[in-house]
Amino acid sequence: MKHEWMSGAAASVLALVFAAQPGYADGAAPDAATAPNTATQLAAARAATKDLGETLKGQLMSAIKSGGAISAISVCKTVAPTIAADASTKHHLTVRRTALKIRNPENAADAFETRVLQDFVDKLAAGADPATLDYSETVTDNGATSFRYMKAIPTAAEPCLACHGSDVKPEVKAEITKLYPADQATGFKAGDLRGAFSVSIPSQ
Ligand code: HEC
Repeated sequence: MKHEWMSGAAASVLALVFAAQPGYADGAAPDAATAPNTATQLAAARAATKDLGETLKGQLMSAIKSGGAISAISVCKTVAPTIAADASTKHHLTVRRTALKIRNPENAADAFETRVLQDFVDKLAAGADPATLDYSETVTDNGATSFRYMKAIPTAAEPCLACHGSDVKPEVKAEITKLYPADQATGFKAGDLRGAFSVSIPSQ
């Protein structure tokens, strides 16, 4: 056997790490040196995405209620990045939103995010529950190691389709096109994957 050098204790640490990986574990095995942190990082990542998701949705709903979809566009444009920055500071990590089809070019997915988003699409098509679909992996890129976490953002009928559906009101569409001339983020149906929250925690 290849791993006879591994002590029982090391083997059980690794077993714990793999057990803590949500969903599936097809990525690189976490390095033993970073193993003790993985559960803590995962908990922080989940807390940050929950925080960001709830705050964002709350602000969006109240903006739509008080001023309609057009005025809520500015909430998405200016408030969303601020809320993401606040959640990042509060949870000591970086959390953002990304998608395969984006509205704001600044939200473009990197190679890791693209791979995970495509996998989420496949998993949803195979019947996965969008509310619990997430993934984490310890990634080494150009010699820098970081813990990466993503959580699926499904498209809800309300309020998402008003600005991301295939039947966006002309005046809403006009405002979106004015602010985002290269918008790709319409034509979604309820239940589609809209995008994902993406967390990154660099290893010290
Ligand atoms: C009032 C219009 C409006 C509504 C309603 C709305 N969005 Fe958006 N959405 C936007 C705008 C504008 C952006 C671009 C934000 C930016 O500049 O970062 C955006 C961006 C996003 C992004 C980031 C990726 C990208 O395309 O740039 C995600 C993910 C997203 N929306 C999901 C949702 C979901 C899920 C809902 C429903 C809960 C929703 N949105 C409802 C207007 C809206």
